[in-house]
Amino acid sequence: MTEKQKIVLASNNPGKVREINALLEDISLNIRSQSEFNVPEVEETGLSFVENALIKARNAASHTGNATIADDSGIEILALNGKPGIYSARFAGVGATDEANLYKLIEEIKPLDEKNRQARFVCLMVFLRHADDPTPIIAQGIWDGVVITEPRGENGFGYDPIFYVPTHDCTSAELPPETKNQLSHRGQALRSLITQINEM
Ligand code: IMP
Repeated sequence: MTEKQKIVLASNNPGKVREINALLEDISLNIRSQSEFNVPEVEETGLSFVENALIKARNAASHTGNATIADDSGIEILALNGKPGIYSARFAGVGATDEANLYKLIEEIKPLDEKNRQARFVCLMVFLRHADDPTPIIAQGIWDGVVITEPRGENGFGYDPIFYVPTHDCTSAELPPETKNQLSHRGQALRSLITQINEM
């Protein structure tokens, strides 16, 4: 791949776009947001993170004619059999705010024993050379933590205020953005994806 080739980032989630752009700051790829191209939202009909990431990447590639990067991510609570998982962004209903999703999850974890609150953030990130690319590049990141019922911290987005990170004794919303990017599911997946793209 040439350095100048345009790659479209298939996300309209401002929290995600902010983190991904920060992670891509030092990378010599020409990354552009799909909002510049008026790419319409696509329904996430997949039953797994990777299927939904591919749906979003393919949608952006077919509307722009460019290579694309997309991620699908969410939080999984072990004791809730992985809920909300791929439904994290619409846990409180389609179009729900981050806050509504957060408080719905808090209500679901309140009955759980404190010892049973293990959680993880999952991110699947894909790269498509074009809409019909039969060999997408795929990377995964997983970040383990524990959920709490009292939100803490102002950074990040989504479920960050209730995702307690034992190694740092704070929630991911209390971590400086650079530290979150070093540790996070999204940071892990994106670094792995970029390594694979550079090897192309
Ligand atoms: P997606 O845009 O369909 O991938 O939905 C991802 C959803 O998962 C977001 O709307 C958040 O609710 C949640 N999520 C994913 N990554 C994070 C994170 O880093 N912090 C907090 N919430 C996250």
